[in-house]
Amino acid sequence: MVALAEQEEIAKGKLLGEPLTWEDLSKMKYTWRVANETLRRFPPIFGGFRKAATDIEYDGYVIPKGWQIFWVTSMTHMDNNIFPEPSKFDPSRFENQASTPPYCFVPFGGGARICPGYEFARVEILVAIHYLVTKFSWKLLSDNSFSRDPMPTPTQGLLIELSPRKQLS
Ligand code: HEM
Repeated sequence: MVALAEQEEIAKGKLLGEPLTWEDLSKMKYTWRVANETLRRFPPIFGGFRKAATDIEYDGYVIPKGWQIFWVTSMTHMDNNIFPEPSKFDPSRFENQASTPPYCFVPFGGGARICPGYEFARVEILVAIHYLVTKFSWKLLSDNSFSRDPMPTPTQGLLIELSPRKQLS
């Protein structure tokens, strides 16, 4: 199933103008995998600081108490041992969440300071995708290359042509 088919299925079951519900969001499983794979490849936040509260020994290195550590999202997102063929866009990686080791898929960070807006961001992403794909047809007018400055930014501005679609409901 592709994300468009999943979203069309949900739109078909609704009356014109009827808002999305929590139940609808819970059906957007494939779309969320697509969003997760996008967040894995192009994490909006590329890392963050932590301060060592005690001396930490890790992999033969000692990080002394008080030192700052910069954790980098793509170190695990692009690790071939965790996400095979990491450059390939493959939403099926997220079919089984248990297959990803803890603290390796970290677009929202992790631990006590994990992004508190995570669930809200999930809702925003799914609702935005739903209306964008069911109400409009898309045509990409630029290539899909990205650069970082430091956020992932479409090199050519990601020009798209949108045309309204026939209402599904
Ligand atoms: C795609 C959307 C978002 C991404 C990728 C994202 C990512 C992150 C990341 C990586 C952190 C640092 C976590 C850590 O240090 O372990 C963070 C922190 C935070 N985020 Fe988000 N975030 C998103 C959306 C949001 C939204 C929608 C809100 C609020 C409505 C929000 C509020 C916050 C706050 C307040 C913090 C600081 C938490 C703390 O330091 O205790 N974020 N976010």
